[in-house]
Amino acid sequence: MTVIRGATTIVQDTPENIRSAVAELLEQIESRNALKRDEVLSIVFSSTSDIHSYYPAKAAREAGFASCSLFSAQEPDIEGGLALCIRVMLFVERNVEPHHVYLRGARVLRKDLAQKYNIAIDGPAGSGKSTIAKMLANDLHILYLDTGAMYRACALAALRAGTDIDDEAQVCDLMRDLPLSVLYRDGVQHTMLGDEDVTPLLRTSEVTMAASSISRHASVRMKMVEKQREIAGKMPCVLDGRDIGTFVLPDADFKFFLTASPAVRAKRRYDELIARGEKVDLQSLTEEIAARDKQDSTREFAPLRQAEDALLIDTSDLTVEEVLGVVKRKMQEKI
Ligand code: DC
Repeated sequence: MTVIRGATTIVQDTPENIRSAVAELLEQIESRNALKRDEVLSIVFSSTSDIHSYYPAKAAREAGFASCSLFSAQEPDIEGGLALCIRVMLFVERNVEPHHVYLRGARVLRKDLAQKYNIAIDGPAGSGKSTIAKMLANDLHILYLDTGAMYRACALAALRAGTDIDDEAQVCDLMRDLPLSVLYRDGVQHTMLGDEDVTPLLRTSEVTMAASSISRHASVRMKMVEKQREIAGKMPCVLDGRDIGTFVLPDADFKFFLTASPAVRAKRRYDELIARGEKVDLQSLTEEIAARDKQDSTREFAPLRQAEDALLIDTSDLTVEEVLGVVKRKMQEKI
């Protein structure tokens, strides 16, 4: 018999997050150990005491583990331990060399080794920060938080409500009860307004410009920053944005500031939108990017700015792989 261990973390205690985290963890354990489902005799889960909304064992049954015995238990609340963590032990009939699987920051089971580290990647539109942040998070099996999507969702809500984005008081009213949240399914961020997943609606040019405008208000920024700090405080993650290294997480363990020439950035956005089948014109995209640069970097509150301790990378003439290589090398040097 073989015992295989694994663990993962979730961002929020919701049934949906628990279901997708358990499905992902079991899938990874199966594939890394070349397991067949009928070889699994039983699966025991434990979860930290901040998880209440769903039984991981039930999620395993739903993920297709139809016949093995399943059990869920709650762990003691140990100070300094990882938050929102689900751990698992699979008992397998065959004797194999076990490959234990730790995802999304749940690398270690010992609380003294549990490390929360954050990576801040800032820069203007089209600098390549979201591509790099996503790839890095994927490689490191940690969370990627797209903070721009949060400001975009605020802008969408304002456009829908007919809020005058230049009117501080109206924006402040809108923000008071805005039901904005961020969920993760299979490691992919979904930005929600109430029960509605608005992720597919956030990339239009109307929302893009409105996001840049609404994000200058302190009432908007403080609400978003509070959520961003809450997520980053729970688990290792890569955050990309404009003010992560300067304002959201001034103590982030690793900080990068990506940039590129305006022409290269506009062309990248153009290619991205054309690939998505959208009709765009390079000249108006160039103007939109210049307008956003100006608005994002001249606003009073937490403007787009390179943190003094961030590493500047000009990505104009680099491939994605080259940029990722520089980022990883710099991180290794620092560790
Ligand atoms: O990264 P993005 O293009 O999706 O961001 C959209 C807008 O949101 C951007 O023009 C400015 C604002 N933003 C911000 O002010 N601070 C962040 N951390 C991220 C985005």
